[in-house]
Amino acid sequence: MAGDGNWVSVAKLDSIKPGDVVGVTLGEREIALYNIDGAIYATDNLCTHAFALLSQGWLDGDCIECPLHGGRFEVKTGKALGAPVTKDIDVFPVKLEGDDVLVKLA
Ligand code: FES
Repeated sequence: MAGDGNWVSVAKLDSIKPGDVVGVTLGEREIALYNIDGAIYATDNLCTHAFALLSQGWLDGDCIECPLHGGRFEVKTGKALGAPVTKDIDVFPVKLEGDDVLVKLA
């Protein structure tokens, strides 16, 4: 994947349909990409409760529900929305260059 400083090209825009969540691997990081009403967001893909990929869960509006125990996170902020999840997930800035989706890693 192409790099530009900390900005990394991770996907093509048309691979993330509205209402979809897609998982990508960047080195050792698992990132989830979301299309919410045409805007793209990125978070850690690993649930903070146990081992599960949020990209295999359900996107409901701007919340992602973990497929393992149903924990929910707010995609735009990473905020954990209640038991069983108590720890927020990381969120990453996203920008578009043409039809490339770029994510800025910490
Ligand atoms: S692993 Fe996600 S809620 Fe338990």
